Amino acid sequence: MSTPRHAPLLIVEDDLALQKQLKWSLDRFESVTADDVASAVLQFRRNSPAVVTMDLGLPPDRDSVSEGFKCLEKLLELDPGVKVIVLTGQNDQDNALRAIRMGAYDFLAKPVDPDVLALTVERAYRLYELQQENRRLQMQQSSDVFSGLVTRDPGMQRVCRMIEKVAPSDATVLLLGESGTGKEVLAQGLHDASKRKGRFVAINCAAIPETLLESELFGYERGAFTGATKSTLGKIETANGGTLMLDEIGDLPMPLQAKLLRFLQERVIERVGGRQEIPIDVRVVGATHQDLKARIADGRFREDLYYRLAEIVVDIPPLRDRLGDPVLLSHAFARRFATEMRRPVPTLADDAVRALETHRWPGNVRELQNMLKRAVIMAEEDRITAADLGLRAAPEAASDDSLLDLRAVRESAERQAVITALARTDGNIVRAAELLGVSRPTLYDLMNRLQIK
Ligand SMILES: Nc1ncnc2c1ncn2[C@@H]1O[C@H](COP(=O)(O)OP(=O)(O)OP(=O)(O)O)[C@@H](O)[C@H]1O
Ligand SMILES: [Mg+2]
Repeated sequence: MSTPRHAPLLIVEDDLALQKQLKWSLDRFESVTADDVASAVLQFRRNSPAVVTMDLGLPPDRDSVSEGFKCLEKLLELDPGVKVIVLTGQNDQDNALRAIRMGAYDFLAKPVDPDVLALTVERAYRLYELQQENRRLQMQQSSDVFSGLVTRDPGMQRVCRMIEKVAPSDATVLLLGESGTGKEVLAQGLHDASKRKGRFVAINCAAIPETLLESELFGYERGAFTGATKSTLGKIETANGGTLMLDEIGDLPMPLQAKLLRFLQERVIERVGGRQEIPIDVRVVGATHQDLKARIADGRFREDLYYRLAEIVVDIPPLRDRLGDPVLLSHAFARRFATEMRRPVPTLADDAVRALETHRWPGNVRELQNMLKRAVIMAEEDRITAADLGLRAAPEAASDDSLLDLRAVRESAERQAVITALARTDGNIVRAAELLGVSRPTLYDLMNRLQIK
């Protein structure tokens, strides 16, 4: 059985004859060797092994085990996940146990049976790989927070990274973006990434009449007003332990702004008609398409509330500024809607692609989503045309004097071409390279240089 491995085996043994013998009996593993602490550390740094077999008696004082323990400690410090198998003398139970307590994976007494050793190494590899895989899955899960979110635009990716970064903190986040840019998707992603146990609750401050909004937010006690037949929790209380999204916060009426400010400062609420202060632990996310600074200047938004909300401000770029995303999203939505409608997934005709690339997207992703839903229904022959989208293709090249720096021009053109090609081919590298007229490795190089994922 041959077992190809990415990470080699490190054999630490100062007796060169024995070292050779070990290497030979473990020849199905790719291995490197060392004969003292310094060379073990060097080889470890150079090769990042997954598994180490190690003699405890190392020079300069072969009869003491102190060098062996020193070595073990150093290797585990370099990679706490490495599996170290310690080779001890006969009847050396104490040192073997001490090594295990320090973090060694297993021990074997010398002389070692080659088959037992090979089996032990094999098992150590398997465990190491399982743990690596586990870690990889965990990392994947954490970036799956935005599972439904499609983007290859650097600005939008920066937004996602920022949200992942602030998620574990309690900081209040303000999402600023035009309508349909994904504020709710991002707020939900923030909640998912925060690992807060409570619920994600969203309330649209613009959609509820001022008279009802206070009891919607803070809840009310029985008899607080006519029709209040039983005590009812408000959204803030419902979100306790979780995340509260205050959507369209720019439209919050002035009297409620004062009450919200008090809540953000004191972190307690009083239900309408109630006397009792109820402590609430909730992460608040505000969102608005309004220009809050302008509303502050007009006296329609409290400046002190703004600064409470704006601990972290996230500016979401509009779709027209996201390079390649309209076409990329179109592919994704076409696939989703066609699957939902049990139809074959349509392709995008050339005139549709050109139209998508030049449209201004006043309604952003929501507009595009609706457009694709309609187009999937309207399309004939599994092909979506500009007409199916209700768009007209009108490509037009802009010229700008500031774009005369050759290097910048070249880089910007390259970036534009690569991202556009990747979007058109729905991320297919082979076809994107063909479209660009370069080899696949060249495209990878370009993507690397331009930092396109
Ligand atoms: N990057 C994206 N990838 C995939 N779907 C997206 C993306 N951004 C938004 N969407 C989808 O577009 C729609 C609009 O998004 P969302 O409701 O989050 O926008 P919004 O900024 O809250 O809009 P509004 O201001 O109108 O409330 C939703 O159906 C959402 O799932
Ligand atoms: Mg919204």
